[in-house]
Amino acid sequence: MEIRNVAILGSGVMGHGIAQISATAGYNVVLRDIEQRFLDKAMEKIRWSLDKLVAKEKISSEEGNAIFKRISPIVDLSDAVKGADLVIEAVPEIMELKKKAYEDLDKVADPKAIFASNTSTLPITEIADVTSRPKRFIGVHFFNPPQLMKLVEVIPGEKTSSEIIELTQKYVKSVDKQAVLCRKDVPGFIINRLFIPMVHEACFVKDRTGATLEEIDSAVKFKLGFPMGIFELADFTGMDVIHKATTEMHARDRKVVSPHPIVERMFDEKRLGQKSGQGYYKYSDDRYERVALSEELAKRCNPIQLVANIINNAAWLVSNGASDVVEIEKAARLGLGLKKPLFATAKEIGIKNIIDELNRLAAEHGEFYRPDPLLETMR
Ligand SMILES: NC(=O)c1ccc[n+]([C@@H]2O[C@H](COP(=O)([O-])OP(=O)(O)OC[C@H]3O[C@@H](n4cnc5c(N)ncnc54)[C@H](O)[C@@H]3O)[C@@H](O)[C@H]2O)c1
Repeated sequence: MEIRNVAILGSGVMGHGIAQISATAGYNVVLRDIEQRFLDKAMEKIRWSLDKLVAKEKISSEEGNAIFKRISPIVDLSDAVKGADLVIEAVPEIMELKKKAYEDLDKVADPKAIFASNTSTLPITEIADVTSRPKRFIGVHFFNPPQLMKLVEVIPGEKTSSEIIELTQKYVKSVDKQAVLCRKDVPGFIINRLFIPMVHEACFVKDRTGATLEEIDSAVKFKLGFPMGIFELADFTGMDVIHKATTEMHARDRKVVSPHPIVERMFDEKRLGQKSGQGYYKYSDDRYERVALSEELAKRCNPIQLVANIINNAAWLVSNGASDVVEIEKAARLGLGLKKPLFATAKEIGIKNIIDELNRLAAEHGEFYRPDPLLETMR
């Protein structure tokens, strides 16, 4: 089987970007949404993004026009998926809504079409089971913005066939992205399992040590090699996204994240981060603004609890057969922008010190912190 025609369901933040990169790679693309006005807006954004690439001389204006012409916006579902070899779904992260979208899709799509969900946190196997083709169903988790972010997590469900895994990886490569296979359909896949719990841990570190937001963020940036602080990254991602991911992951696995109440409070109070002008930090407009972090401030925070948390979750992924150290490092580099490998940071601090820290935290705050048995073997 060869993928030539791609249909994207949902033309929002992710869908329009995935449509653009697919058309750029030469695929015939249909972009589908429930109302024409959403498609008009999405096509406007794609035009704007292509014009920017033309202005920067990354593509010629003829190429820009040809890419744009390869994308057909269509509201009618059966027209939209007619002839599609691959259907990528990027509708809102609400299980019932996704299941309904797949029930409708399954009735009209070619029986050979591959279904790929861009879900960040929902179980692939459970969504696949509402269709008649769980063997041809897979997760493809692009990151925001898809035009720029290189990482795509590929997540097979329990029944996904190896042929579909290979075809999906090939498609990911063809749109100039790098696939990291999350071998098991585990809550949070790889990146969210590392990132989301760390936001909560950073809140606990603030409460328990009295360090300021800027001190913690400086330590994360300068000692752990993140491109920005963890609170900055949370504000950039949006507390709505973080809250939703937390709820979904925690509902499926209590061991993955220890929710700090502030995250839910910020969500309820609409302190969503950059997009609302206030998150952990205040933003004067919605342009991307940086917080003043420094190596001096970093000296005032010992980030061992944060490293312990992220390494413990990484170790869990390895112990449970969802990934391995090499793939986790690749995902962290491409998906979180880490300049320094996670396990290198852990070794600098000392695996024994990390285990001691986790045992200390477990004694004080509960079993959530108990070190993964894999860490003992890495001492
Ligand atoms: N925004 C992010 O940072 C991000 C990152 C990675 C993955 N995701 C995942 O991508 C998916 C989409 O997120 P988003 O941020 O693009 O959402 P969004 O709200 O920006 O866009 C979703 C679009 O889907 C449309 N829609 C609703 N029902 C539909 C249907 N039945 N058929 C076609 N279109 C339909 C909506 O009208 C809307 O335009 C979610 O699963 C989300 O978890 C989001």
